Amino acid sequence: MEKPVKVGLLGLGVVGTGVLEILADHQEKIEKSIGCPLTVAKALVRPTEDKENLAKKYNLQLVHELTDIIEDPEIDIVVEVMGRIEPAKTFISEALKAGKHVVTANKDLLAQHGSELASLAHEQKRNLYYEASVAGGIPILRTIANSLAADDIQEVLGIVNGTTNYMLTKMVTEQMDYDTALKQAQELGFAESDPTNDVDGIDAAYKMVILSKFAFGMTITMDQVKVKGIRGLSGKDVTAADQLGYTVKLIGSTVKKNGSIAAEVGPVLVPSDHPLASIHNEFNAVFVKSSGIGESMYYGPGAGSRPTATSIVADLMTIVNKIQLGTIGHRFSEYTQPTQLTPPEEIVSKYFLSLKMPDETGQFLQLAEIMANAGAGLEQVVQEKATVENARVVVITHKMSETTMSQIQKDIAEKTNFELLSTMKVMGE
Ligand code: HSE
Repeated sequence: MEKPVKVGLLGLGVVGTGVLEILADHQEKIEKSIGCPLTVAKALVRPTEDKENLAKKYNLQLVHELTDIIEDPEIDIVVEVMGRIEPAKTFISEALKAGKHVVTANKDLLAQHGSELASLAHEQKRNLYYEASVAGGIPILRTIANSLAADDIQEVLGIVNGTTNYMLTKMVTEQMDYDTALKQAQELGFAESDPTNDVDGIDAAYKMVILSKFAFGMTITMDQVKVKGIRGLSGKDVTAADQLGYTVKLIGSTVKKNGSIAAEVGPVLVPSDHPLASIHNEFNAVFVKSSGIGESMYYGPGAGSRPTATSIVADLMTIVNKIQLGTIGHRFSEYTQPTQLTPPEEIVSKYFLSLKMPDETGQFLQLAEIMANAGAGLEQVVQEKATVENARVVVITHKMSETTMSQIQKDIAEKTNFELLSTMKVMGE
């Protein structure tokens, strides 16, 4: 038997504990696959954290200084499971500079500083792997980088935030209100410590930045992703969409058109017979449209201790394989293209609009005129009487550009006394 490969853990929370469990429970298979034992030798914890029982159970040393791990010549790979930007960024950089390979699940960090860290790893001829950063237990990054390496990807659409998918599921199936659904998601433990990142679409946007790099080789920044969350989404709109044959989902998308890409996160009306409409509760799914394979979808848990840890341990095993083969230092995704963004006038989709208008003659005509002047067509229109004075009107348009949609919003605000309650994109031709 070859000498064990030793790992240093930065953080020993839910995911770190999962790493210890997966390594222990699947020890035999892991060892047979890589030809040597894989063990966690040390874990960095805060002096105030009581992790003695875990340390004893898994036979590891608790340390309070980064140097105790990165200056230990016995440790080959560092796993960062602390989350957030700092000190994780400094710790990962220091570990790479000290010659360690790094595995992380930190989507916030990779979305904002991924290129810098990948370049540092490359310079240091070390590996930086982060499968668990997108859709935790779904092996989507490796699938895009390896299995779809020969394919030409056109679209990646994802339900990549479990918290919001759980909330939307409860709002549709149990007519649960927004606040109760959020509270339940927090209690179940998949919400971020600050659930703003979940409900405002930021967590999903981090993942779309990473997916854009893998699918199209393009590095985009967070401010190049158009982000809208589900905060304030009304149960009435969700129900209206349901009655029109759609399910509202928070969709992260990155789409290629004429060599440029558009990345976005927002609530979308998904046709109820589309595979993404059937993803319920906290589950994640990534739907890929490509010219070789056609349509494929990858489904599974997007968070949780053991699913996330399973992806982390697979990354560790990949690095061990590369050390053994002497092929270290390649990037997780080698595909690189100059970044080109699709202009708003070329980003087209159908739209759902919900409006409150006075229940008087001629109001509808005004809406029809605004739409006609902008060159937009109506596909479906539903009117319901909200109060004695007001009617609530729900419209699904034909496809139009984002620029046209902005013009319509402007005209509604300036030329009518309608209240535009919400707008959402609608998936489909
Ligand atoms: N808060 C995230 C979610 C956790 O709800 O999906 C996984 O990134």
